[in-house]
Amino acid sequence: MLELGAGTGYNAGLLAHLTGPTGPTGHVTTIDVDDDIVDGARTALAAVGIDNVTVILGDGALGHADNAPYDRIIATVSAHAVPHAWLDQLAPGGRLLTPLRLRGTVARSIAFEPHDGAWRSVSSEMNTFMPLRQGIADDPRRLVPLTRDGTVTLVTSGGQEIDAEALSDVLHQPTTQVWTGPTFRGQESAEWLGLWLACTMPSGLNRMPAKPQAIESGLLSAPYPSSTACFDQTALTSLTRRKASHTASDGAGLYEFGVIGHGPGGDTLAEQVADAVRTWTAITAAARSSSRSSHSTTPRPPDVRAASPSPTPSTGSSSSGAEMDVGLIAHRFPLVARPRPACPPLVEWIAQLRDMAHTAHTDGDRTLAAAVQNKAALIAATAA
Ligand SMILES: C[S@@+](CC[C@H](N)C(=O)[O-])C[C@H]1O[C@@H](n2cnc3c(N)ncnc32)[C@H](O)[C@@H]1O
Repeated sequence: MLELGAGTGYNAGLLAHLTGPTGPTGHVTTIDVDDDIVDGARTALAAVGIDNVTVILGDGALGHADNAPYDRIIATVSAHAVPHAWLDQLAPGGRLLTPLRLRGTVARSIAFEPHDGAWRSVSSEMNTFMPLRQGIADDPRRLVPLTRDGTVTLVTSGGQEIDAEALSDVLHQPTTQVWTGPTFRGQESAEWLGLWLACTMPSGLNRMPAKPQAIESGLLSAPYPSSTACFDQTALTSLTRRKASHTASDGAGLYEFGVIGHGPGGDTLAEQVADAVRTWTAITAAARSSSRSSHSTTPRPPDVRAASPSPTPSTGSSSSGAEMDVGLIAHRFPLVARPRPACPPLVEWIAQLRDMAHTAHTDGDRTLAAAVQNKAALIAATAA
């Protein structure tokens, strides 16, 4: 196995346990860019008696050809495109798992396998890792302070154009608030909505971490956590939510998303984001109802299937004598079996997108429809 981003060496230790004893098949190579980090990982692994991990100092984006090919490659550091070396160094039939920053600061961990001469994703999970740095595939983050006291920061990626000066005071300017209408269950993950906004809004969706003082002072009201901000030249929007007055049929609490626009043009941008939220809701509702009514046989994405981690915590330790209990970890944190909302089947999405594009009435709808049509063509081409 190859791991990019050795860090503490902990994950490499887990992988070493999974690969089995030292030998032709049981070996892990892990890479980090800083010598003190590499030293730390080596020391930590040696301290627990793990001897089938090699920690290399280097640029993870280049992989490590000397030990290739690898049956599995896992990046615990984020890329904005998959470095070729990882694909070249993967053994036939292997699997690559990497966090990929898609747009704005929205990222997902995607597992790729070669299939018919192309790389196909076999699963995708929401998460964010720090980006690759100090190498050929750097994806530097740009931090834009939105308040003078540093309580709110906009996180963008290096390639994004942003007028940091124009946005520096945006939260202190008059705001507008647009409520979107549809309601969601409190515990419902907004990850697919986030992905939709990331793909449809020109700036993508971006993280906007805020310190508690910014909320206590009323500068930000009920901000939805993590990736919530869209921006243009002078305006910025953030997502918020409020409790609906009604509940679901089973009594569960419901919430409505809202969009707060800040700065000149914030009202227009907020309307655009709200439109995109409504579009997303309409598409998913239609896709859900059509799959219910047709008892769809369309395959669900692979990540909604449950794996079968051992229900009994194992007390096994690594062959090298390390006192690790991977079985227990897997039992406590069942990474794959977690129930989660399904992404609507792709073919249904495409059909819905096309229908929407044909029923646009207002200028806003038409602009959105053009974007939607482009997206549908792209998705259809990719799917084909
Ligand atoms: C989230 S941490 C990895 C955690 C680690 N796997 C563990 O078990 O502790 C990300 C690591 O990626 C490393 N990193 C960043 N850029 C890198 C690059 N170009 N090549 C290799 N490692 C890199 C960082 O130094 C950091 O240690």
